[in-house]
Amino acid sequence: MIKIPVIKAVCVSLVLAGIALAPNAQAVPLRAPAAPTSVSCLPTPHPVTTEQTLALFELAARKIGAVRTTGAKRYPFGALHSSPDYAYTGATGWTSGFFAAELWLLYQRTQDPHWLEAARAQTRGLMKLATYTGSHDLGFMVGLPTGLGATLDPGPEQQAAYAEARITAARTLSQRWNPRIRALKSSEYGGKWGLIIDSAMNAPLLIEAGQAIGGPEGDELVYRGTEHMLTLARDFVRPDGSTFHRMAFNPKTGALIGPIPGQGLTGDSTWARGQAWALNGFTRAYELTGNAELLDAALRTAAFWVSKVPPGCIPAWDFNIDNSRAPRDSSAASIAADGLLSLRRVVGDTAADYGAYADVTLGLLTTPWMTTARSVNPGILLQQTLNVPSDPREGSYVWGDYYLLRALSAA
Ligand code: GLY
Repeated sequence: MIKIPVIKAVCVSLVLAGIALAPNAQAVPLRAPAAPTSVSCLPTPHPVTTEQTLALFELAARKIGAVRTTGAKRYPFGALHSSPDYAYTGATGWTSGFFAAELWLLYQRTQDPHWLEAARAQTRGLMKLATYTGSHDLGFMVGLPTGLGATLDPGPEQQAAYAEARITAARTLSQRWNPRIRALKSSEYGGKWGLIIDSAMNAPLLIEAGQAIGGPEGDELVYRGTEHMLTLARDFVRPDGSTFHRMAFNPKTGALIGPIPGQGLTGDSTWARGQAWALNGFTRAYELTGNAELLDAALRTAAFWVSKVPPGCIPAWDFNIDNSRAPRDSSAASIAADGLLSLRRVVGDTAADYGAYADVTLGLLTTPWMTTARSVNPGILLQQTLNVPSDPREGSYVWGDYYLLRALSAA
């Protein structure tokens, strides 16, 4: 594992190594509040440049092109910093859709048929999960790769198959609906009916599928997906825009019981990746529905993020940690950057600052310091964490890599 030095040492070594501050680097006049949490920053923040984006996609093509995707466990998951090999999962792992999604983005950028074939092959393996009832993450596992395929695949037959898989997956996910809680069950937490903020990324699949099929069934899917997001907005977003990670409910009465510890520091803290999932998911749900409460949730969770993390910085894995040696979570930064760019696109001028903020975050995430350009690691983006309470080691993971590529595609 690469040891992460203290912030000052990182900044000094960056300058000594002459790393990747683009010739047109410029200080960015965005809010740069004193950070109450631990952050790791570029000495001179600057928006991502075309050269950095090109270099990152070249790196991605090289790394992704070398990955083996055959055998029973053929879905890349992640690799600790010094590992030359990915850990893999089967199709039912919550991360199984991200590598396929990365392949789709490489195809989108290059139009190279090699990437199309690879993306099709990975996506095909995931489409049979559309009836899988064992996970609330069907949005990530099926919705994400088939959504990209439906847009990018030139084949009409394939497009129809992706569209059908999306609708089936939405119907399957919809079986988790509890009308008293007005939400789709995520899982059992501490033996209780539980909801998780990450589900903000899955529920929009119901809205998309419902809008596609229309009629009474489509209306019901839209209703359930929208209500799920409103429940998250009501019960997970605090007045300051920060978020809880997991909550338990009484499934008979619908009553909120309270927070349950998960991947964050405590049940009451703000897990950095959860905050990023929230702002990204609320933005998408607002884009689909035009619901003002969802816009409010998107803007408030985004405002919390940028008030805690100055531009060009990566947060520690939880916002309640104040320790410069704490593990980072750059995947939270890439998910947030993608969400902030979406917010700028969807809301326009009101969110213009957020887009500029995202450009600077991408300026950081594409420096060689942050990527695997000089390492044997098979992924792309370093300094990601999975679940620090059970394993504090940093690595590259497919979700952080995917959202980095997606944000760069949109920047
Ligand atoms: N959805 C699980 C995670 O973000 O780790």
